[in-house]
Amino acid sequence: MTEENFIPKPYTNLIDSGSFTWASPSNIALVKYWGKKEHQIPENPSISFTLNNCKTTTTVSFSKKEINTGFSFEVFLDGEQKEDFKPKIEIFFKRVEVYLPFLNAYHFKIETSNTFPHSSGIASSASGMSALALCLMSIEKELSTDVSEQDFIKKASFLSRLGSGSACRSLEGDLVVWGTHDEIKGSSDLFGVKYPYDVHQNFKNYQDTILLVDKGEKQVSSTVGHNLMHGHPFAQKRFKQANSNLSQMVSILKNGDLDQFIALVESEALTLHAMMMTSMPYFILMKPNTLEIINKIWNYRKQKGSKVCFTLDAGANVHVLYPQNERASVLEFIKNELVAYCQNGQYICDVIGLGANKL
Ligand code: DP6
Repeated sequence: MTEENFIPKPYTNLIDSGSFTWASPSNIALVKYWGKKEHQIPENPSISFTLNNCKTTTTVSFSKKEINTGFSFEVFLDGEQKEDFKPKIEIFFKRVEVYLPFLNAYHFKIETSNTFPHSSGIASSASGMSALALCLMSIEKELSTDVSEQDFIKKASFLSRLGSGSACRSLEGDLVVWGTHDEIKGSSDLFGVKYPYDVHQNFKNYQDTILLVDKGEKQVSSTVGHNLMHGHPFAQKRFKQANSNLSQMVSILKNGDLDQFIALVESEALTLHAMMMTSMPYFILMKPNTLEIINKIWNYRKQKGSKVCFTLDAGANVHVLYPQNERASVLEFIKNELVAYCQNGQYICDVIGLGANKL
């Protein structure tokens, strides 16, 4: 499949106006995407758990406009107009215009809200961009006659990727792979695919409690971060490692070995941060409290024989991952020992989810 496959046939039914709403979740990568080529093509494949509670709900209302000059849209977050969201959406529209030629024919009102605080340091780009892409796909489906369910989700993921790479992994659940990998049937650099193989019972309803360590603006935007992988002395080795980690993850997901899972997931998180510490310029994205939490998790695991582990995104917040059968005990541990390291004691309880919903 190539990019050209996503260019639609001329529309058959140019309706005057309408409105669609989608809720789409965030996701947390187990094998990380870090480094990309032109056109949002990842340097290595990645796999993520789709989340359930951290979501963005977006309504896109559209009405035919008279003159065809450039894009016309307005954006609202929680009912308030957000001028500062517009440049990112403008860039997104430019990138996807060729795949959604109707973008020029309408005025759009984009209304969005998140279930988590916007400045919580939780990436809203995955949930936000996927919710927007899905609304646009719903519009396209109205204008065309032949969009199958399968094509719909594939193109929505393709478009989400052009908004933000990790967003293409948010549409379905409970595990999604993005990036071509020899051992994963149907995998592609162009869109995310639902993980196609058996997953052990141990991973059902896996829990993710997100500890908000630092809610400030991101120190390094993901675009800048990804770019740091160009010419990075360890980049090629890292891309290779991600490929073999994904192979290993396939067997772990099948055999349910949680010790191997923990080792792989924590190593991926620390490697991501190691890449940023060893790039030029270099960054330390963890905070002292991130390290306190990691050490507490390691101690607790050792003492209790627990299967709790952590992962990190490109920031200081900690995702605490654990099996469903440890829910009560780990939540107790979090309340007693980890909340003290969270900004304003804030954390979010989430669990693996099934992907986006049309409302
Ligand atoms: C560290 O998807 O935010 O979360 O494609 O530039 O929008 P852009 O980057 P983005 O990068 C996320 C990187 C990560 C790891 C991951 O989710 O795989």
